[in-house]
Amino acid sequence: MRITVLTGAGISAESGLATFRAVDGLWESHRIEDVATPEGFAADPALVHRFYNMRREDAAAAQPNAAHLALAELAQRHDLVLVTQNVDDLHERAGSPEVIHMHGALAGALCAACSHRWSAPMVMSPEDPCPACARPATRPDIVWFGEIPYHMDRIWEALESADLFAAIGTSGNVYPAAGFAQHARRHGADCVELNLDSSANARDFHRRITGPASRTVPEWVASLG
Ligand code: APR
Repeated sequence: MRITVLTGAGISAESGLATFRAVDGLWESHRIEDVATPEGFAADPALVHRFYNMRREDAAAAQPNAAHLALAELAQRHDLVLVTQNVDDLHERAGSPEVIHMHGALAGALCAACSHRWSAPMVMSPEDPCPACARPATRPDIVWFGEIPYHMDRIWEALESADLFAAIGTSGNVYPAAGFAQHARRHGADCVELNLDSSANARDFHRRITGPASRTVPEWVASLG
């Protein structure tokens, strides 16, 4: 069975990483326009680097939970395409063989001047010279609001060829990811969401499995055989 899975911040919540739109979420303590837009980076690159340095340290201190581990196991038994909106590396550390990071990754650094990419150090600052062009134009390799998500051709193809699409731990607020269920369903996929509560695009799914991902995802994976 061809399965395409989309994960969001909710799958990493039980690993101790903040989600975005919960009452204690990242967008309660930081303004999106300040830390997650190209304009915010241009206005105050040091603030943006501090925000992602904090998230890089939090992610390094976190451990994959049972939901991440179950998806790694699923890849051993089925033709799985794993797409994540998350920028942490918990899927990789759980053993998932291939993870499509549509919003980039904390582990990546990008030169805004020459587009060179390299592995980000734990702490980055605006003065860091690009290893390729030496200009101080480094930024986190994260897709910000108003920028184009990565790997979309591969993702649309995975949605169109899936027998089963599952969205795990995402509020369904941000496009294009929020439109993935509708797209997969239009191409004949069975669509299920696994979430703690109802998402903004709940009506796009055939059914929902409600509860914490560390319990629901292993149970769901086991049910697939
Ligand atoms: N188990 C399952 N689901 C959970 C859990 C949990 N333990 N904890 C929280 N959730 C659910 C919440 O109910 C919510 O629906 O995870 C979802 C998290 O939603 P958001 O905080 O909006 O995160 P996400 O959907 O990943 O955000 C999408 O928005 O800001 C941008 O780029 C950012 O990738 C992010 C995108």
